[in-house]
Amino acid sequence: MANMSTRSQLALLDALDPLSRAPIRIFSFKLLVLFPIAPLLAARYRYPLFETISSFASWYAYKLAMAWGGLRGALTLVLALAVTENRGLDPQVQRFVAVLATGLVLFTLFVNGTTLRMVIALLGLDRLSPRNEVLRDRILALSYAEVCDAVRHLAEAHALAPAAVQQIVEPYQAWITTANARDAAERLTERDRLAIALVALANQERALALETHAARIAPPATVQTLLHHADTLLDGARTEGRLGYQRAAAAILSFPVAFRIAYFLYRHFGIRRLLADRLADRVELLLVTRLLVDRLVDFNNERLRLIFGERITALTGESVERRRGELGGAFDALQRQYPDYVAALEVRFLRQSAVRQETGRYHALFEEGLIPQELFEDLKRGVTATRAAEPRPRFDIGLDTRRLIEQLDFLSALSNAQLDRVAKLLRPRFTVPNERIVRAGDRGDAVFFIASGAVEVRLPVRNVRLGTGEFFGEMALLTGRPRQADVVALSYCRLLVLRKADFDRFVTANPDAGAAISRVAQTRLAMNRDDHDRTAEVAS
Ligand code: CMP
Repeated sequence: MANMSTRSQLALLDALDPLSRAPIRIFSFKLLVLFPIAPLLAARYRYPLFETISSFASWYAYKLAMAWGGLRGALTLVLALAVTENRGLDPQVQRFVAVLATGLVLFTLFVNGTTLRMVIALLGLDRLSPRNEVLRDRILALSYAEVCDAVRHLAEAHALAPAAVQQIVEPYQAWITTANARDAAERLTERDRLAIALVALANQERALALETHAARIAPPATVQTLLHHADTLLDGARTEGRLGYQRAAAAILSFPVAFRIAYFLYRHFGIRRLLADRLADRVELLLVTRLLVDRLVDFNNERLRLIFGERITALTGESVERRRGELGGAFDALQRQYPDYVAALEVRFLRQSAVRQETGRYHALFEEGLIPQELFEDLKRGVTATRAAEPRPRFDIGLDTRRLIEQLDFLSALSNAQLDRVAKLLRPRFTVPNERIVRAGDRGDAVFFIASGAVEVRLPVRNVRLGTGEFFGEMALLTGRPRQADVVALSYCRLLVLRKADFDRFVTANPDAGAAISRVAQTRLAMNRDDHDRTAEVAS
């Protein structure tokens, strides 16, 4: 400084003047960013149970701690160096930036850095939330009880003095008694406890999904979906408790976007392969999810019950059972239509489990020192060579018109040659559960024969269920009137569609089948007329 010209000294003092205020400015800037942005983020991502900062006061406390804790380091210095190395800039500006950056880094490191712990403690952010405190107490009480039991068993087995046991067990028991008394004061509502238990359940599902990956029970893509589902359940339980968990459980059973896209491509462009692959994914996913949920039942009964008690686990158990039912329903729907594929997948799954068991056994023998390394490697090679990873069987939607026709009883009298001709007029179509195939009021453009599956005709007065071998959509074609009702698929269906343009040709070529269709249509019309008259009578 002594050798500097007066001008330079003045310039540096000028440069240092804003520096003295820089930390305050940056701190205020951070507050400015944090305070308006954080509420927006909170509104977008709601995590009330653990992540959300529960009270207004702690909301502000967190933001203050975040603003205070934003330390500056290497990055600031690197950026500053980039400026100071730039020859195009005035040396005074370069010096100013260098001093400013160094000062700022030192300030945040020595002032903010050293006081952050104190600030966090002052703001009370280093304490557990009441919810986590309850959970911690429960887990500790459970662990201490297990410790006491283990100590007693050990003492019994080795005939140790009861006084010694008492001395060890007493502090644990005293803690349990105090914790129970604290808990009896009901620091948390039952709703919160239930939500915490459901979060634990979803976390366990996540752990089981990862186990599935480690055990190679499912391919990586399926494990990815399982993890995503566990996260969805976790978010549901955190944000809306039981209702959220149940909503999430329903959502993960619906068809995913990839399935919908494949279905769209099938319906509009006739591409079947993608849909078949997505159906195969679904069978595999449902198969593995069922296994996980079965294990959740045990987890609920054995582990959660000890931590959360009877009342809460009865409710979580109900949610798990409900999921089990819904999963079973979704799986059965596929199994009923594709029993061979499901059986093939189950065989593959069991075979892979057997291979895992075998390898695990060799591994255990090696670990126990019962077989040498070379033998272990040889046995492992044997397993890999004979039972290399089996590819998933190919899924066939089963839309071969000629084979589907064989399911239609009213065509059973036709000869093979006649059936071949009929097959040329019919188009196969696959539908998913809950898909509306016919809309009431629309113009009739086709008749649908059910080769497999079931549909529901939704009439104003009643719903009529139609199954394999039956047909619908004939009335609009025969009477020229609009469609009488909505017809919705109850399951995966394989239909044969006879378009209006081909209907007359079909009836002319197969008069008996035509007469059978007309008879059924007459009966249905009469039934609907009766329903209508009866309703009108009741109304008048
Ligand atoms: P359509 O009117 O073209 O479209 C709706 C279809 O529902 C109808 O043809 C029949 O195939 C079917 N449908 C209407 N009423 C009944 C009924 N009472 N029982 C069974 N199916 C019916």
